[in-house]
Amino acid sequence: MSVKPTKIVQSLKPYVPGEQPQDGGFIKLNTNENPYPPAPEVIEAFRQAMPERLRLYPDPLCVELRTLLVERHKGSVSQIFVGNGSDEVLRLLFQAYLGAGDAVAMVNPTYSLYPVIAAQLGVRTKIFELGPDGEMPDFPALSSFKVFIIASPNPPYGTFYPEETLERLIKSAPSTLFIIDEAYVDFASGDATALVARYSNVVICRSYSKAFSLAGVRLGYAFGTEDIIENLFKLKDSYNVDYLSQTLGCAAVRAQAYYAGLAVRIREDRAFLTTELRRLGFKVYDSQGNFIFAENGDGGALYESLKKKMILVRYFDTPRLRTGVRITIGTRKELEALLKALRDK
Ligand SMILES: Cc1ncc(COP(=O)(O)O)c(C=O)c1O
Repeated sequence: MSVKPTKIVQSLKPYVPGEQPQDGGFIKLNTNENPYPPAPEVIEAFRQAMPERLRLYPDPLCVELRTLLVERHKGSVSQIFVGNGSDEVLRLLFQAYLGAGDAVAMVNPTYSLYPVIAAQLGVRTKIFELGPDGEMPDFPALSSFKVFIIASPNPPYGTFYPEETLERLIKSAPSTLFIIDEAYVDFASGDATALVARYSNVVICRSYSKAFSLAGVRLGYAFGTEDIIENLFKLKDSYNVDYLSQTLGCAAVRAQAYYAGLAVRIREDRAFLTTELRRLGFKVYDSQGNFIFAENGDGGALYESLKKKMILVRYFDTPRLRTGVRITIGTRKELEALLKALRDK
């Protein structure tokens, strides 16, 4: 007889990430990776990485990387926590602040991992539907929720919520922790990090997978009050960020100018794709991420027809999202190939 896992595990369905075909050949516009390589400094740091260091454990506290990161955010090193991708950071935040029976509030649609992490912890999820164009609804008292999580820009529509909008919510519920997931913020017109200095119930999460072209090494971080960050340190694995990730992460922070250039290009190409898809009759949401959501009524058929032409986009089979697909902003050449495939249909 096999040993049964916990009731929670029995009830879970695994999170389904976007396809990662290992055989190449696809134009890959499905998981919001950056189409451009990491900065030359990062590639050089990779080449220079010392094989003899692989024998040793990495710095468990990621001090060099946290010191570099804090310069971006005007705080102290003890306000930064680095994780194995922002997914790990999000998971640890949930684990630190939510126990079985607690409730986390979030919007729909959003990053589909949030309800999965909540379910893994036996945490109740309260979902608020976004408006027809991704706008925030009128929330009831958020103070009845232990945690509110929102991404800004929020996938898959890409809606950006300005600091004032978030601040209004934060003020209305001082005993609720607000997790603001800024995985895509480098492609947006602003950010919400200033709120950390003003409110003790805010934490910001950032990812290296999008703007920094480093999805392959798994690196993300949180910026919040010293208290919040200390709680994450209590829960993390001893060596949660490996030596190579820390080394490349440091090189990437030092190469801001290169990445700022990539973000400009991606924003321009996002505007190009949005205009062209609207011309073809799609509803395209105003996005501030490195992706757009395009609707033509039948996302499933659109996904399948593009896949046959070796173009991968992301389809979510949920009531709200099955009318369209999410498309990552690739290179201009990739986007032109996508538009050609759509026109030739
Ligand atoms: C909103 C959002 N947050 C976080 C992540 C995960 O980022 P990471 O690769 O750093 O774990 C994603 C990935 O797609 C995302 O869409």
